[in-house]
Amino acid sequence: MALKLFFVLICSVVSVAWCATSNSTSNATVHVWRGLEQCAYTIAIPKTDPEVCPGGRDTVVFLQDLKATVDDLSLKLENVKAKLGSLEQTIKDDQLNVFSTLTKVLMQEQERRQQIQLLKEEVESLKQSSTTSVVEPKSEQVIRPTLPTTDTERIVPSMFSTTEGTGEEELPPTNPPWLNDELTERPVTEAFVTDIWWTEYNFTYEDNWNACHGKQYVKLNNHWNIGKYVGVVLCSPTRYKIFLSEKLGDMFRNIADLYGAGEDHCQFLGAYDDATDIDHDVWDSPSTEGYYRGDYGEDLQYGRIGGQGDDWTGRKYPKWYECGVSIP
Ligand SMILES: *[C@@H]1O[C@H](CO)[C@@H](O)[C@H](O)[C@H]1NC(C)=O
Ligand SMILES: *[C@@H]1O[C@H](CO)[C@@H](O)[C@H](O)[C@H]1NC(C)=O
Ligand SMILES: *[C@@H]1O[C@H](CO)[C@@H](O)[C@H](O)[C@H]1NC(C)=O
Repeated sequence: MALKLFFVLICSVVSVAWCATSNSTSNATVHVWRGLEQCAYTIAIPKTDPEVCPGGRDTVVFLQDLKATVDDLSLKLENVKAKLGSLEQTIKDDQLNVFSTLTKVLMQEQERRQQIQLLKEEVESLKQSSTTSVVEPKSEQVIRPTLPTTDTERIVPSMFSTTEGTGEEELPPTNPPWLNDELTERPVTEAFVTDIWWTEYNFTYEDNWNACHGKQYVKLNNHWNIGKYVGVVLCSPTRYKIFLSEKLGDMFRNIADLYGAGEDHCQFLGAYDDATDIDHDVWDSPSTEGYYRGDYGEDLQYGRIGGQGDDWTGRKYPKWYECGVSIP
C-alpha cells in the first residue's frame, strides 16, 4: 500500500509539472517503476486543455485515473505473482520428484551395499570356519592317547599283514595283493573269481587225457550258456590243458570238438584266434562225460564225448593247447 501511494505521489508530481510547463500538443508519458526487476509500465497521459490544468479539479480526476491504472497494474502483478507462485510450486513438485527419485536410487544403492556387506561377512565367516576346521583335528590328535605298538599290530587286519611268520613264499604278482592274502587264509570262493584275471586255485579235474600237471588257475567264463568256470592246468605258461565246470567245487571236465581237435577252445581263455598249436592225438580220447561244440562262438553242449569203436561219439579232445596267450 505504501508503494502504491508512493507511485501516486510521484505521478501526480509529474502530472502537475507537466501541466505547469508543457504546452505541447503531444501526450505526456509517465514511466511507472516498481522495483528494479519488476515491470516498467507506460501510461499515456492525454493532452489536456491548458485551462483545465491550473484548476486542480482535473488533476484529481487524473489522479483517480492514475490510481485506477495502478490498481489494475497491481492486479496484473498479482496475477503474474500467482502464476509465478504456481510455477514455483511446479518447480517445487519437480524438485520433490527429483528428490524422491534420487532418494529411491540412494536407498537402493544403500540396500545393495548392505547386501554386499552381508555377502562379505558370509564369505569371511566361511573362511573363518574352514580355518577352524583345519585347526581342530590337530588339537584332537594331541588329546588322543597313543596306543602301544603291540596293540596297533593287533588292530591291523590279517588281510593287510605280510606273509611273514607263515613260512610261505610270496606268490607271483598275478593276483591283486589282497587276494593272495585271502588265499592263504581260507579257500577261494566264487566271489574272488572274475573274468578279468586268473585266480590260482587247485580245482579237481578229470585227469584222463591230459599232458599238463602244473599250477592251476580259474577264470569266470560266463559268456556261454554253460561252462561257467574255465580252468587251466599248466605245462608251461604258454602250453596248458583247458577244462570247464559249472561250480568251482565240481570236477572240471574236458572239452571236445565235433570237427577239429579243439582249436576254437582258445576262445574260453579270451583269445580271438584258434590255437597256435594243439595236441593232434585226439582219436583215442577216452569215452566220458564232458562239454563239446563244433565251431568258434557256438553254444556249448554237455554229454558223452570221446570213445572208440562202439563208444565212438565223434567228439574228441586234446591233451594240451597253445593259444598264443601266457597264463597267468
Ligand atoms: C501556451 O499557449 C497559449 C496559447 O496557445 C499561450 O498563450 C501561452 O503563453 C503558452 N504557454 C507557454 C508556457 O508556452
Ligand atoms: C494523445 O492521447 C489521446 C488519448 O489517449 C490519443 O487519442 C492521441 O492520439 C494521443 N496523441 C499523440 C500525439 O500521441
Ligand atoms: C595247489 O597245489 C600245489 C601242489 O600241492 C601247491 O603247491 C599250491 O600251493 C596249491 N595252490 C593253492 C592256491 O592252494
